[in-house]
Amino acid sequence: MGDTVTVIHGDKRVELPIVCSADGDPAIDISQLRAKTGMITYDPSLANTGICQSGITFVDGERGILRYRGIPIEQFTEKPDFVEVVWLLIFGRLPKRDELAEFSELLTENELLHEGMKQQFQRIPVDAPPMAILSATLTSLAFFHQEFLEVEDKESIVQAAARLISKVRTIAAFACRRSLGLPFMYPDPKFRYCANFLHMMFSIPYRQYVVTPEVEDALNLLFILHADHEQNCSTSTVRIVGSARANLFASCAAGVCALWGPLHGGANVEVIHMLERIHAGGISPEECVRQAKDKTSPLKLYGFGHRLYRNYDPRAKILKVACERVFARMNRKDPLLDTARRLEELALADPYFVDRKLFPNVDFYSGILLRAIGIPTNMFTVCFAIGRLPGWIAQWKEQHTDPSGKILRPRQVYVGPTETNYVPMSQR
Ligand code: CMC
Repeated sequence: MGDTVTVIHGDKRVELPIVCSADGDPAIDISQLRAKTGMITYDPSLANTGICQSGITFVDGERGILRYRGIPIEQFTEKPDFVEVVWLLIFGRLPKRDELAEFSELLTENELLHEGMKQQFQRIPVDAPPMAILSATLTSLAFFHQEFLEVEDKESIVQAAARLISKVRTIAAFACRRSLGLPFMYPDPKFRYCANFLHMMFSIPYRQYVVTPEVEDALNLLFILHADHEQNCSTSTVRIVGSARANLFASCAAGVCALWGPLHGGANVEVIHMLERIHAGGISPEECVRQAKDKTSPLKLYGFGHRLYRNYDPRAKILKVACERVFARMNRKDPLLDTARRLEELALADPYFVDRKLFPNVDFYSGILLRAIGIPTNMFTVCFAIGRLPGWIAQWKEQHTDPSGKILRPRQVYVGPTETNYVPMSQR
């Protein structure tokens, strides 16, 4: 392959450089296209557009590969430690023992919420969606930590990142407790990251929740599998907001809003609703698949399909095995796991899904694992957000520290009215 591609339009020939990637698809650099041809590109769902060069996460959708900083995702599953992955993603390499200990200590120091912030929870309606609480509360971190509204040096970024990573689980647990009418449980510094979240979710005064290794491992794994996924919808949102030099708290809150959508992180809730409906006899698995194929029906097969994967999503593969392992370790069963397996079997044998290369994605089995942990369904997408936060921070940091970084500002192909005159109210 040459170093350029040639665009020919009429009698114009324009050479456009090729940007090589370390792995995966190369790109055509079109930054001079408009200047040289007077034309822009049109890619409405951005499926063919790279918005940045990034060294954080690599996905090969054809081969079903996902790597964080070059390390295959499967290598994090044996002894899962989410905080180690947080460090890896944000700082670019695996932490040494003392670095990890120091960062864990920083998380512990920052686990409490400002009392003013805690009081905000009392004014939130008890039935408020936890994702709305999460995005609003992450934004309001800017009230209480104004020293981090502009973070330029590495140390300030570390401090701001630690506040977000640590406080997000306290905010999430408080949001859940508020909806259940239960007292808030303060974080306990003796616990590690995931165990502390479980304690805040499930302990009640004078009755300490006992964190078992299988549940702690399952949550660590779940957070790790969600930790980053290159330029997905919420991450691109974080980058777009951050490109305007918006602060890290506001940028991540915007990511939460994007993640909420049922085509993105909200799919984990839709999957469970779908499986529950099948299990309750409201619809058969066969009918569910039939409706998902019917373009006139609003139903989709949630937890299936992906913009990048044309193969089994490696995260779904790991989660499916993890569900089976966790239930075996707990000596429990969940009938929804059988329902999910049956639905998967039907879809993977159906020409509609086979021809379109639609496979289970991360959201297909994650809800079943969250149920095993005891997380209520309305908190599933919040758990996705806790897991994804290090990815958002790493991507924001990568962009923020890029000296050539500019505001992200796409163009459009205008198809509205051409110039027309304003008509006064009396003449309309
Ligand atoms: N059920 C039925 N049909 C589907 C599905 C599905 N879940 N996913 C894709 N298709 C069809 C789609 O309608 C299209 O059909 P046609 O060629 O006849 O027009 C074809 O498959 C190709 O779709 P696509 O272009 O690959 O889809 P996309 O890249 O625009 O959208 C998606 C990706 C994830 C939004 C979509 O697959 C979907 O809506 N899935 C269900 C929601 C879901 O599980 N989302 C979680 C995504 S993974 C985690 C995350 O990012 O949060």
